[in-house]
Amino acid sequence: MVEINSYDDLVAAANEAAQRFAAKIDSAISVNELMEIEPGIKGKKSAFVEFRKFLGRLEPDERPSAGAIVQEIVSNLNQAFDTKFQALKEIERKISLQEDRLDLTEVIAGLAGSPVGMRGKLHPVTQAREKLEDTFLGMGFSVEEGPEIETDWFNFEALNIPPSHPARGMWDTFYLDIGEPETILLRTHTSPVQVRVMMTQKPPIYSVMPGRCFRRDTPDARHLAVFHQIEGLVIDKGITFASLAGTIDRFTTAYFGPNIHARLRPAYFPFTEPSAEFEINCTICEGHGCRTCSNTGWIELGGCGMVDPNVFLAVGIDPEEWSGFAFGFGIDRLVQMRYSLPDIRVLIENDLRHSMSSRYN
Ligand code: DAH
Repeated sequence: MVEINSYDDLVAAANEAAQRFAAKIDSAISVNELMEIEPGIKGKKSAFVEFRKFLGRLEPDERPSAGAIVQEIVSNLNQAFDTKFQALKEIERKISLQEDRLDLTEVIAGLAGSPVGMRGKLHPVTQAREKLEDTFLGMGFSVEEGPEIETDWFNFEALNIPPSHPARGMWDTFYLDIGEPETILLRTHTSPVQVRVMMTQKPPIYSVMPGRCFRRDTPDARHLAVFHQIEGLVIDKGITFASLAGTIDRFTTAYFGPNIHARLRPAYFPFTEPSAEFEINCTICEGHGCRTCSNTGWIELGGCGMVDPNVFLAVGIDPEEWSGFAFGFGIDRLVQMRYSLPDIRVLIENDLRHSMSSRYN
């Protein structure tokens, strides 16, 4: 900055700064660019603060007019800045509205010349659930459903998880304020439907049970508090662990195609013994290793095992005569895998820009 030693210097410098900043305001083409100019005009270290300080060093009779000049320049610049800010903000708002615009009346052309286009599609989780049901129906299973609001007995006790059993910690439960405390809850898994099926049907049983589940989990990239599972239950004579392994592998290949296989790893669940976790080849890299599967080539899908005799006893099935296996896994997680979604929460965001995407066909 030129040195200021007199009234004339001050007025010249203030006018020069006024012109310089007016030109900058004029040429700014974005709110960001404008904000970079702001400290020079309004900031504590702006030239105008210096000018004001210099007023004190002028002769007393020069001060009022110099002060008025500086004041007018500052208020003109402030006004020009604010006007430009509003204008740029409005332009940017219009551009972003335009960019985010979705034509909800758009009709996508129908298949092979069919006059009827597709106006929307089912949620990817619904699509996955339907495909899973079809796959199991094709393998001779029936599809059953149970209530989302359950009693403690169905959700835990009949599944060999008595009150105060440490395994209850595996499921962070939403209890409802109905009846005795902690007796009615939002089901934490679809396993209670197994119990309902065993109590209402006589073996042999070949069933899958899809549905919504609830846990007091904080949602993150891989968890939702409201999610979907599909449960499987087979009870017959002579069912062994090999039947379980074979069924899971058959299902995996039927659902994902010939390149994807399943493997079992020892685990613990109170309602099955022995228990296992089942993993499939990562469907994104087909087992070669990628970011999604942390380069292991495998992705955990769910739990399974041979139905524990205590569960049979709770529902009145003779474990000497019948044996069976059960499994359960998360459908949302499957969808996350299928579409390589880095964050599972996009499934519940209701952001039409995601759901209109052709990825979710
Ligand atoms: N219900 C279990 C869960 O939500 C998953 C599961 C494990 C289901 C083993 C089963 C089973 O049927 O046998 O974590």
